[in-house]
Order: sequence, then structure tokens, then C-alpha cells
Amino acid sequence: MSNVQHLYVHLPFCVHRCGYCDFVTVVGRAGEHGSYVDALLAELELEKNVLAAPLETVFVGGGTPTFTELGELRRLLDALPPASEVTVEANPETVTGELASLLEEAGVTRISLGAQSFQPQLLDVLERQAGPDAVRRAFHTLRDVEFDNISLDLLYGIPGQSPADLDADLAEALALAPEHLSYYELEAKPGTRFTHAHGDELGRQAEAMEGYFEQAVETLTGAGYRWYETANFCLAPDRAGGRDLRSHHNLGYWRASDYLGVGIGAVSTVGGVRWRNLPSLRGYLAALGEGVAPPREVEPLDDDTRARERLLLGLRLDEPLPLDAGLAEVIDRSARERLTRGGLIEPGHIGAADSLALTKRGRFLGGGVTVELFADVPE
Ligand SMILES: C[S@@+](CC[C@H](N)C(=O)[O-])C[C@H]1O[C@@H](n2cnc3c(N)ncnc32)[C@H](O)[C@@H]1O
Ligand code: SF4
Repeated sequence: MSNVQHLYVHLPFCVHRCGYCDFVTVVGRAGEHGSYVDALLAELELEKNVLAAPLETVFVGGGTPTFTELGELRRLLDALPPASEVTVEANPETVTGELASLLEEAGVTRISLGAQSFQPQLLDVLERQAGPDAVRRAFHTLRDVEFDNISLDLLYGIPGQSPADLDADLAEALALAPEHLSYYELEAKPGTRFTHAHGDELGRQAEAMEGYFEQAVETLTGAGYRWYETANFCLAPDRAGGRDLRSHHNLGYWRASDYLGVGIGAVSTVGGVRWRNLPSLRGYLAALGEGVAPPREVEPLDDDTRARERLLLGLRLDEPLPLDAGLAEVIDRSARERLTRGGLIEPGHIGAADSLALTKRGRFLGGGVTVELFADVPE
């Protein structure tokens, strides 16, 4: 089997661990970047028989991929299989002219820049290394080497944030005219240092989330961006010379396509089986040093689970989801009728097949509506 179109590569190293972050990261360890790249390439070698050639997308995420020693980052990028879309996540404080040129020369087509906010006091709360000037500088440095597909990550619901701060962030982001924006609701895990420090204020923010979300959607769609996924926006084709600027890597996830992930903590879903590499750097390096697969959790996915995932992910998009027999089985008919009458979902047709989409109001309520659609699992 060699038909997997999407490859995720995890580079976990960061200069500092931000309080709110729940991703698999490793602080510093410059001395180990080279051996980690060796291990990534060894894992890829073990799994490459599932990959299509050429691939549709490669996504190099983190951690902070652009904090990786530049020689090692270049060695990795040069060794990755070719793809139409190659995205690298970048942190603003790491973006220099040298890095931007390296990424461009290595064939990277898309940059995802972690801005999070343009308000200095909110960036302090998040413990970010880059202030607003560094975010803007990084953006222009990437433009200077002619990157024409740059995405900005922003967060709402940051402790201390007000609707005026959100408006200011939206205006600052739009002034840069990025091709793509991801606007995430800040998730704070219970029991973390961050939640402990900001507990009461996080509660207040939680109550304001729905308003923030609508404020972001209205402003960005008003500025000519397509709200193509719950938290993602791209310049509409008429503003983008006809280009489709959606993240094709993430579209693969939302359409429940198979994908291969390599690196610590990386997840793969191939042929109805999901596996997740354990987060330990030591265990990962040791196993791949011996040429064997790293320690993993493996989970076979049954048809019911896969169909529920397809529904949950597919309805995040602004395109109607075709309802095949598997999907129809996990939808509760009476809930479907009730939600249609309530103006939250919109049944339709694609050719002879039924389809389903969330209405605008349904999209504001998001996953809650989809979960209501689920039929009970048969005993
Ligand atoms: C895996 S992070 C890595 C990106 C990069 N290291 C950075 O910090 O900008 C990718 C994105 O996830 C989002 N993110 C990280 N932690 C989050 C959280 N607790 N809740 C919501 N989004 C989060 C941020 O917007 C971030 O840019
Ligand atoms: S830089 Fe990004 S990946 Fe690293 S700790 Fe901060 S949010 Fe997490």
C-alpha cells in the first residue's frame, strides 16, 4: 500500500516552554538536534512504503521547527520526500534573513507563523519570546524572500484580553495581509501551572469566548477572507488570483484522509489503524538508533469510530459533507430533523448522494451541534 498523501514531521525543540502549551516539546538540547534528525529520517525510512510519490503535503510542526540548528533543519528538509505543499511552523524570534532564505531554497512553500497576539501585555501573559515588533519583522523578512503563502496563528481568550484587544489584534493581523489565518480559542488544561496562575480570569474569558469567536469571524469575512474551517480563514479566491489558499495538509485531517506522522508524540492513521509515538526523546532516539520502530500506542479504529470522526471533522468545513452509508448510520434521524428545523444544519445533495453542512449559526455552536447528531452506539 503506498497511497498516503500527507506527512507530518515533528520537531519538538523550543527555546522555552510557554505556560499554556500542551504540545510535545523539549527545551534546548542543541547537542541532540542532529541525532534527532537522524532518528526522524530512520523512522521515515521504516515507514516510507505507505507514502504516495509525490506527496500532496508535508507539514513540519513543533515545538519550534525554526529553533532547530539550521544545518540540521536544512539536512532534514533536503531529505524529505517532495510534495506540492510544504509547510514549516516558525516562531517570530527565530526568523532571520538567513533562516528565511534557507526555507525558501529548501523548497518550503508555506509558512505558519506563531504570532498569538500583537498586545505586549498579552504576549507577556503567554510567556512568548517575541513582542509585536518581532512578529511584524518576521512577517516582512519572510515576504522579502518572496514567500507568498504565509499564515498567522492567533489566540483568543487570553487572560486579561478585552474585546478591544481582539479588535486591535484583528486590525494588526489584517494590516500584514497574510494569505491565511488560524484563530484558536486558548485551551487551558486543568492542573497546569498556567491554569493555577490565571484560574479566575480564565473563567471570565470562557464566558466571553462565543462573543470573541463571532467578532473574529465577522471581521475576517468582512475583510475578504473565506471562513473555510471552524478556526481557519484564507483569502477568498477572488482576492487571491484564483489560488486555493486553504491548508491542504489540514484539509487532509478534516476530510479524514490517512496520514503518516514521524517524531516524538506524532500520530499516524493508516488503513484503519492509529498509532501514537510516545513523547520520550530518550526512548525515541534509542529505538531508532537500533533501527527499530519507536515505542508506540497502537489503536485499531472500528467502522463506527471512523464514521463519527469523519462527521465531527467534516462538518468543521464550509463545504457540504457527502453522506455515504457509513455516515448515515451514525446520524440520529430525529436529531437531524430537529436541528434542521432549528436552523443549525442544512441537508442537501451532491449528485445523487445526500449531503449535510452546518449553517452559519450551527458553525458558531460548532462541535456541540455535531455531537447532538450522533445516534446512540448500539449495545
Ligand atoms: C504546536 S504550536 C507550535 C507553534 C510555535 N511553536 C509557536 O508557539 O508559535 C501551533 C499553534 O498551536 C496553538 N496553540 C498552542 N497552544 C495552544 C493552546 N493551549 N490552546 C489553543 N491553541 C494553542 C498556537 O496558536 C500555536 O501557534
Ligand atoms: S514555542 Fe510553541 S511549541 Fe514551544 S512551548 Fe511555546 S507554544 Fe509550545
